[in-house]
Amino acid sequence: MHMLQVKDKEFELYLSEGELGRRVKELGRIITADYKDRQPLVLGVLNGAFMFLSDLMKEVSVPLELSFIKLASYEGTSSTGNVKEVIGLNHQIKGRHVLVVEDIVDTGLSMTHLQETLAKQMPASVELVSLLLKPAALKVPLEVKYVGFEIPNKFVVGYGLDYDGYGRNLKEIYQLK
Ligand code: IMP
Repeated sequence: MHMLQVKDKEFELYLSEGELGRRVKELGRIITADYKDRQPLVLGVLNGAFMFLSDLMKEVSVPLELSFIKLASYEGTSSTGNVKEVIGLNHQIKGRHVLVVEDIVDTGLSMTHLQETLAKQMPASVELVSLLLKPAALKVPLEVKYVGFEIPNKFVVGYGLDYDGYGRNLKEIYQLK
């Protein structure tokens, strides 16, 4: 088993570069088909989604606009539940088909808050893409249309996701041992 230390914690390999790449390609194909007649406004949620977003967008071949937003702070290995305001939302949302790209949905509180914020500006549609989803951690009902992998309720790091600021640059995803 491929082990890794990030700061004070031990992690083990959970999703390889190849597994991630194959699934990202598939998601890209599905999104391309679904949005063939629309020009979505893609909102990537920083910081965690940067690597997934970058790989995913190379696999989506419809004309689109891409922008970045930032919302909650997340410290250590458990969600603070303390959602901050949405930063960087300076696009005209009204009438647009918005596609939010997130790294992971844990409690679902961040995405619910973002959806509510977007809805006030009357978009034509809002769909969520999340590389990872922890179904057992959801605290609110949330529809995530495009999910890369459903994972157990364990802390993960890598491929954009951090543990206390570290691990975002890893090519693979590691799970807390
Ligand atoms: P939620 O509001 O609880 O769904 O939290 C979503 C955010 O928490 C994600 O965008 C991540 O930044 C962070 N997060 C949740 N679970 C993990 C994890 O296992 N590893 C790293 N970050 C996580």
